[in-house]
Amino acid sequence: MSVTDDARAMLRDRAAAVLHGNDAGTWTKASPVLYPHQWSWDSAFIAMGWAHLDVRRAMTELEGLFAAQWSTGMVPHLVFRAGSDHPYFPGPQWWDTPSVPAAAGLPVQTTGICQPPVHALAVQRIWQLTPQPQQQEIRERVQALYPRLVHWHHYLATHRDPEASGLVTTFHPWEGTDNSPRWDEALERIKVAKPGPYTRLDVTELGDASQRPSTWDYDRFLWLVEQLRKYQYDDTRIYREYPFLIKDVFFSAIFVAANAALLDLADVAGASDSDRKQLASWLERGREGLTRRFDAESGLCVDYDVRNGDDIKLRTFAGFAPLFARTADPGQREAQMRLLDSEHFCGNPRLRWRLLPSTSPNEPAFQPHDYWRGPVWPVINWLLWQALRELGYTDRAEQIRRDSLSQIAIGEINEYFEPFTGAPLGSPQQSWTAAVTLDWSAFDPR
Ligand code: DGY
Repeated sequence: MSVTDDARAMLRDRAAAVLHGNDAGTWTKASPVLYPHQWSWDSAFIAMGWAHLDVRRAMTELEGLFAAQWSTGMVPHLVFRAGSDHPYFPGPQWWDTPSVPAAAGLPVQTTGICQPPVHALAVQRIWQLTPQPQQQEIRERVQALYPRLVHWHHYLATHRDPEASGLVTTFHPWEGTDNSPRWDEALERIKVAKPGPYTRLDVTELGDASQRPSTWDYDRFLWLVEQLRKYQYDDTRIYREYPFLIKDVFFSAIFVAANAALLDLADVAGASDSDRKQLASWLERGREGLTRRFDAESGLCVDYDVRNGDDIKLRTFAGFAPLFARTADPGQREAQMRLLDSEHFCGNPRLRWRLLPSTSPNEPAFQPHDYWRGPVWPVINWLLWQALRELGYTDRAEQIRRDSLSQIAIGEINEYFEPFTGAPLGSPQQSWTAAVTLDWSAFDPR
């Protein structure tokens, strides 16, 4: 089934209604059900969605997020903005960041970890969509935000990569892909994860625990937060003492693409020569870092565990990091394209659409309903679409766009989808799914 022009227009209107419905004025709820606050990478996608409706509102989204930036440059993964009548666990008390020196004086409470830096891609998209009469205003706002973006990238290139490897170290599964099997072994090593007493709200709110991380995962997620809190989120101490440090190739690939996006915006933003040089060096170092993590035998790019040096060789979407980073190496590109359409991923005959699942159906840890352990996430497919277009695979990119729209049309603009049946899963009215729907609906392949 493919989406007709009329159906696409209806879908676009439904997506716009989701953003308006979740709009809190200057920030957007990630979703009405599970995620009532402002999330970092959600917010970046959301800004791209707003850019199709109102570029000013799009900039406001990012400006609000960056108002919560820590003095280290870190942009927190969650800004607690909804009132107490919108319960969420773990809330601000669990994170306890106001006493942390790097978060001192912030106008809002936040968590103490971060998420992939999609923000520069969002600003790039906003600028591309800015109509002529608004260019002067938006240019000024981009110029004001740009140093904060560079500071954010500086944080990732230093605090999160003290080895200068070109690879970003993740400190927590909530820094992107929560219960992905990529973290299983590192989490298994945590034998005595007994966090203080807690009550989850997500499983009751969603009403189906099989779509959410397990209790085993949550015990470890929360215990890790307790350790981070104990270290006062001090990155040097974390690096020295904390058990969960993973070189995350997906996060690193987004960082590469984001550095390229900031370079692309350098003239608009009036960037200094030193900023341009620094961005170019992070970009190059990131590409080299990913090239070293490429495993020619499997065609995958491989995360590794900083604590024990082990490779994490699993067939997940993250293995396509060279594509997400728009690799310059033709050999790696071809190997990745072959793998992408092999039976391990999009060529699997059981798939409803040829879309990239979060975990390969051939991976023993695969679970078709369970969050990052199998379902298809539209935002990940948007990142892939964008990368494939830039790498010149326009036909394959176009299939992803069309299939994604057909998939999203089935539900209520959901968070993720069952790969075999296409059943919508997770939260309905998910803002970032609405945002990519708006971007895909506006795209003209001719
Ligand atoms: C959640 O609450 O499930 C989020 O993924 C954490 O950021």
